[in-house]
Amino acid sequence: MKKHIAVLEGDGIGPEIMAEALKVLEVVTRKYNHDITTEKAPFGASAYFEFGASFPEKTKEICDNADAIMKGPVGLAVEDMKKIPLEERPEKAAILPLRARYNTYANYRPVILPKELADFSPLRPEIIGEGLDILMIRELVGGIYFGDKVEGVHTDDTYSHDNCAYSRAEVEQIARIAFKEAMLHRKHLVNVHKANVLATSRFWNSIVDEVHKEFPEVTLDSVLVDNAAYQLVKNPTQFNGVMLLENMQGDIITDQAGGVLGSLGLMPSACVGKDKGYVEPAHGSAPDIAGKNIANPYSMIGSVALMFDKLFGCKKEANSIWAALFNVFAKGFRTQELAGKSTPKEKILSTTAFGDMVVEYIEQN
Ligand code: IPM
Ligand code: MN
Repeated sequence: MKKHIAVLEGDGIGPEIMAEALKVLEVVTRKYNHDITTEKAPFGASAYFEFGASFPEKTKEICDNADAIMKGPVGLAVEDMKKIPLEERPEKAAILPLRARYNTYANYRPVILPKELADFSPLRPEIIGEGLDILMIRELVGGIYFGDKVEGVHTDDTYSHDNCAYSRAEVEQIARIAFKEAMLHRKHLVNVHKANVLATSRFWNSIVDEVHKEFPEVTLDSVLVDNAAYQLVKNPTQFNGVMLLENMQGDIITDQAGGVLGSLGLMPSACVGKDKGYVEPAHGSAPDIAGKNIANPYSMIGSVALMFDKLFGCKKEANSIWAALFNVFAKGFRTQELAGKSTPKEKILSTTAFGDMVVEYIEQN
């Protein structure tokens, strides 16, 4: 397979975790005889300070010409972000435009915690039970994020709104993705919504029910988003299988899932469109720990696994990366944020040491 990948390191811990992901990409490329080239491009707050734009034109060109994009987290500490005019802040000027540019409507956020690693979670081991194996699928280019907006502070200062809109086609395409994934994954789909209040949710649910007819083998449950938040902590294994969420609700519930796992550093993701997609960790750039070689690179390395799986259709490569990641933990190693009181010092890995162990496992297995 021949692929060219644009690499957007981003801000904060971005460059550090990206370096580890690139090491893993390199070893997988070699092991499976692929021809994969990479090309770095500036993106995010640092790009704004250096080039005057969070998503510079040159970066757009590099992304357009790539087969896929690996993106690190972006953003800086609050005080530094305030130095960037609202219109150029990375969320508004880089992340959402990247999603819109490639119409990456399907956001895959796996929430995986084998029962042997239950100690990562702040929840009691009996709550983690058999382990967590949830694939959260978040709609990523519609809803309130992309609806019409009026912002009081920029106009008359008396009124603001964010419009939440979904078209039939948008709901149908993400529902179909979710059911297809559910067919491969426990045949269980939980549809999350807020139909007791939102018109868009009632519309969404009626379409999910229609699409369900194409997939009669899948058991479908529907749950209100507030109840889903409660259940995710109270009894998370009931969601093992696939969860389908609209954009805003998915943003919130996937962060909560990171909390259930014990670290947002365990949340990789893939953002998939019809022709192109990109991968990114679900978390932010953690400026407080940047440059210290202590960030957990799992989310960025797991994103490489998702790139092989969801963007290139290469399961073997993806599985070898997942196996390596879990093998590091299975041997008792922890990144700093996952280490508990009983973790011996010599088992606590730096960012680079974690990446090295993943690479070594892939080379040897
Ligand atoms: C995420 C992030 C983004 C989102 C922000 C940075 C715009 O929180 O990918 O979850 O809200 O989608
Ligand atoms: Mn988020």
